[in-house]
Amino acid sequence: MRILSGIQPSGRLHLGNYFGALRKHIELQGEHECFYFIANYHALTTINQAERLEEFTREVALTYLALGLDPNKAVFFRQSDVPEVTELMWILSCLTPMGLLQRAHSYKDKVAQGLSPNHGLFAYPVLQAADILIYKANLVPVGQDQAQHIEMAQDIQGKFNQAFNCNVLVRPEPLISAEAAVVPGIDGRKMSKSYDNTIELFGPPNQARKRIMSMKTDSTPVDQPKNPETCNVFALLRLLASRDEVAEWDARYRKGGMGYGEAKKRLAELFEETFGPCRKRYEEFARHPEEVERILADGGRRAREVAAQTMREVRKCCGLKTIGG
Ligand code: ADP
Ligand code: TRP
Repeated sequence: MRILSGIQPSGRLHLGNYFGALRKHIELQGEHECFYFIANYHALTTINQAERLEEFTREVALTYLALGLDPNKAVFFRQSDVPEVTELMWILSCLTPMGLLQRAHSYKDKVAQGLSPNHGLFAYPVLQAADILIYKANLVPVGQDQAQHIEMAQDIQGKFNQAFNCNVLVRPEPLISAEAAVVPGIDGRKMSKSYDNTIELFGPPNQARKRIMSMKTDSTPVDQPKNPETCNVFALLRLLASRDEVAEWDARYRKGGMGYGEAKKRLAELFEETFGPCRKRYEEFARHPEEVERILADGGRRAREVAAQTMREVRKCCGLKTIGG
């Protein structure tokens, strides 16, 4: 079973990324053949400054390593170390109907938010399909917001095999954690960099605590019973606390006599208990950029070998000759 996923380097990673994607990536690394990459070509759709792209790329690498990604267990690399993926994207583009891309929610959302769209943003799902298909991945662990992109990859895979009458590309399936499909942000909407409502995993000291203490809650008075199901503080407690503790908070919410401040304080403590030890590893890797580079370069070489083999098969199916092959 081959697993693959990517994360864009478009800012610091947050709790939504962790529970929706990263945690699963790390959990799976011991059991399957895993490929995880930093989607820097994708980030170019919105970032046009070299230093920022480099900084965010480094940030994603440090975050994965701090959270326990083991480069001996998973192939961890930068998308741009496998330029073949852009070649596959072109080939797949020629089979992708315009209508499929025009229906993409993520594209439509970005345009609705006022982003002036470029062709890269429009073609984004085709590059994502190429990412997945070039490694013949079977499973793609992502958050709910990526489900449509995986469906598009399935469509495109089917079209390629059908058009060229082959079975070179493999159908990928999404893997979406039920308990963290959509993690809410501090304002109750989906946690996302673009809404400025995130709790960053490795932000400046005390930033996470401040963000947690400023989470939006309703105005039910302290003595009144509260509904845990509609509270975003509870939604995060549920992800970070043990099962028994979650049951206790559930009962305390429903009973009344508990203020949201108390729940937030505990949430901040749990955040620290979970990510405090990882912060030390983050800082350790940050002090050794050459080690991080070595890990990424090694991963890039391993990934490229697999991608190059798929491309030989793909070119053959399409009738594309290259020098020597
Ligand atoms: P953002 O929305 O902050 O730009 P990305 O689109 O870069 O985040 O997401 C990277 C990964 O994290 C994807 O697999 C995505 O599905 C997951 N993810 C992001 N935000 C959330 C969230 N709020 N809940 C669950 N998963 C999320
Ligand atoms: N689009 C994904 C996101 O925004 C990142 C990504 C790029 C990806 N290529 C991928 C995810 C391939 C899974 C598989 O989060």
